[in-house]
Amino acid sequence: MGIYHCFGCQEGGDVIQFIRKIENLDYVDAVKLLAQKAGMTIPENSFDQGSSRLRQRIYEANRETARFYVKALYTPEGKEALNYLLERKLTPKTITHFGLGYSPKSRFALVNHLKSKGFSSTEMIQANLANQSQKGYPYDRFTDRVMFPIIDLQKRVIAFGGRIMSDIKPKYLNTSDTPVFSKSRNLFALQFAKNEAHGQLILVEGYMDVIALHQAGFQNAVATLGTALTKEQATLLKRYCDEIVICYDADRAGQTATARAIDILRPTGLNIKILTVPDGKDPDEFIKSHGDQGAARFRMLLEKCGNDIDYRMNKLRSNYDMDVTLQRVSFLTEAAKLLSTLDNSIERDVYISKLSEELNVDKNAIKQQVDKSMRRQARDSIQKLQKDIQRDLISGSKQRSPSEQGFSLRLVSTEEALVAILFTDPDIALELFRTTSPELFQSDFHQRIFRLMKSRADEGLEFGITDISDSLTDQEMNRLSGILSSHPREDDPKAAVKAYLEILREEKEKLTPEEIAKADDETLLEQIRRLRNKKQ
Ligand code: CTP
Ligand code: MN
Repeated sequence: MGIYHCFGCQEGGDVIQFIRKIENLDYVDAVKLLAQKAGMTIPENSFDQGSSRLRQRIYEANRETARFYVKALYTPEGKEALNYLLERKLTPKTITHFGLGYSPKSRFALVNHLKSKGFSSTEMIQANLANQSQKGYPYDRFTDRVMFPIIDLQKRVIAFGGRIMSDIKPKYLNTSDTPVFSKSRNLFALQFAKNEAHGQLILVEGYMDVIALHQAGFQNAVATLGTALTKEQATLLKRYCDEIVICYDADRAGQTATARAIDILRPTGLNIKILTVPDGKDPDEFIKSHGDQGAARFRMLLEKCGNDIDYRMNKLRSNYDMDVTLQRVSFLTEAAKLLSTLDNSIERDVYISKLSEELNVDKNAIKQQVDKSMRRQARDSIQKLQKDIQRDLISGSKQRSPSEQGFSLRLVSTEEALVAILFTDPDIALELFRTTSPELFQSDFHQRIFRLMKSRADEGLEFGITDISDSLTDQEMNRLSGILSSHPREDDPKAAVKAYLEILREEKEKLTPEEIAKADDETLLEQIRRLRNKKQ
């Protein structure tokens, strides 16, 4: 299947076998892992060649089923369902646009229809359009429900959601995951919304919310498929917009889901806004309750909704009694923590000013508190990063400093720390000039600094930053002072140097992605063993 050749392992089969053995992964994951280590992405679904025939049949069965449900909606038996949709204020045009339908009451309506179209029982069951009875025959999964087809970006019908028209539970029945459908990787109505996003998508909870919003002119609304938002969905959203407006139900469950969605969305870097619909309504109910004014009112909500910091600040505030001094102080501490998570310094400043006015506290005092919290967070995240990198078995291609393409972040930051020590600790520097060579550093820039300093030291001259500045361009000076200012004097520089040298040695032993791609089994196995031992 040619995948091995993609990353240069002609004898790939064996590599995969041993990766699978030691990592205990299945074949697909082993290939993915290898490809990932080599800095490549493997398109999803390129693996199941074997089942592609089945997948094709499932798409066909789904399409035929969607047609069948639509037709049924306009028969006498579907009248109740059609009325239900019209009563919920969907227009005939919207009903057609979304391909809404009706699944008849008979437990064999669809099964018989699909059989007449040449589909096998296995295909119906695999598509999750039919369940299998104890005796082994298929019967319809969806009966007497309003049907919502779920369509992917290639306009294929991949699944269905079915709503019951009474209070019987479950309210919605959805297609379970099938060979063509994963509920955690798709979003309802994204096939429409992606073209109408213009930078912004609205994330709501329900199918009916999406449909009501599209009908009201907000065609950039999407929904998850009966589960909480997943990382995969967040990545998918990121592909089509820069900003997400989360518009979940105002009830408790909705608010918990909002907090979770924020956590999932934040790492994508998307701008996040929270729209809270008033009076505990969901978007569909809100729009409907305002009749002709619905769309305009929703537009107003959309325009005035704040980003998630506003939202979280309000939530935080509600936990404290601002009339009690001690509580005010606690609130301030927590608020500073929250603001320290903002990357944008202007945005930070805006909120600091707001807080300062609100609490009548000196702006600088708040700023100091935020700065302190930022420093603590920076330290924590560096520690976490170091742990993550340690965990990486093979030098990854993922983490790269923009200034040093090709080197791991761990390598670059270690080299920088060493460079800083050369300047803060002349005794250690002299020792290093004597015992190591410029090749200690892999970055050309760091090597150059080392050489410049060493050649001056060799002649008995001073080798501080001003002493070598003549040999550096402005840009290089900026870069160097950046390094120095972010590396204050170490408490125990000797011990630090020892640790850094060890890290650099380790990094040298690691293979580059290119080498991994070319390496034979023995080399890779050896490499992984070595790193494993180090970890323990
Ligand atoms: N959901 C589900 N199974 C359920 C209930 C809900 O899969 N038993 C999913 C559906 O995708 C639904 C979403 O969760 O659209 C949100 O649920 P809810 O707010 O109850 O649905 P609405 O779309 O608002 O439905 P309606 O207005 O018809 O009550
Ligand atoms: Mn609803």
